[in-house]
Amino acid sequence: MHSFARHFHSEASEAPAKEPKGLILNRGWRYDLEIWFIDTFVFHGQLQELRQRTANLADIQPGEQVLDVGCGTGTLAMEVQRRVSRAGRVAGVDPGIQQIARARAKAARRHVPIEFQIGVIERLPFPEQTFDVVLSTLMMHHLPTSLKRQGLSEIARVLKPGGRLVIADFKRKKERAGQAARFHAGGSSVQDLVAIVSDAGFERVETEEMQPSHFSAFPGAGFLRAHKS
Ligand SMILES: C[S@@+](CC[C@H](N)C(=O)[O-])C[C@H]1O[C@@H](n2cnc3c(N)ncnc32)[C@H](O)[C@@H]1O
Repeated sequence: MHSFARHFHSEASEAPAKEPKGLILNRGWRYDLEIWFIDTFVFHGQLQELRQRTANLADIQPGEQVLDVGCGTGTLAMEVQRRVSRAGRVAGVDPGIQQIARARAKAARRHVPIEFQIGVIERLPFPEQTFDVVLSTLMMHHLPTSLKRQGLSEIARVLKPGGRLVIADFKRKKERAGQAARFHAGGSSVQDLVAIVSDAGFERVETEEMQPSHFSAFPGAGFLRAHKS
């Protein structure tokens, strides 16, 4: 599996949006297939649990407007759409052309009105104070620190006052132990994210952890929830 997983991250490529600086994934349906394989046989469903927990932490209500930044192939956005119902609005942004094409195809197949756009966290294509909630899963480790800072101030710009931000990311490689240490993909320090998020003007910043279950190579994850002041 690990060569499979390595492959899935090593093909981060094919420049899409204007000079994006993060590690862009562009694998479309192959990404979903690989993620399904890894989550089913290696992580024992913990990736799906991470997405559910992200949406739960955001406490998404029917009618709310939600943005998923670095949405990939749109799996979390589909779950969020179910929670906001037709009265709400869900948008997803990612620089990967194939990821967005796959996300749009999935939404069309399920007849759900999610707006998937090619775009980057450092230039979000939305007016100020548009969203009640912004989410980001497994994406922060793709960005250098300067870009994280730029992206967080963009997120603050598009959130309404009091709006919620929830970030989930894998633990850093050096914090992983046992089986989990074998998973190659990068991760984030939640404490570093707390500092960046606070500097970007968020308050009530809270964190929690998700540990790997027994016999799972899930690398562990950190969650951060904050409110725009
Ligand atoms: C590991 S994937 C996670 C995708 C999705 N959030 C999920 O949980 O499956 C990380 C995503 O971040 C995207 N990304 C990289 N640089 C970015 C940037 N500057 N702005 C927005 N997204 C970016 C990649 O293209 C990729 O789809």
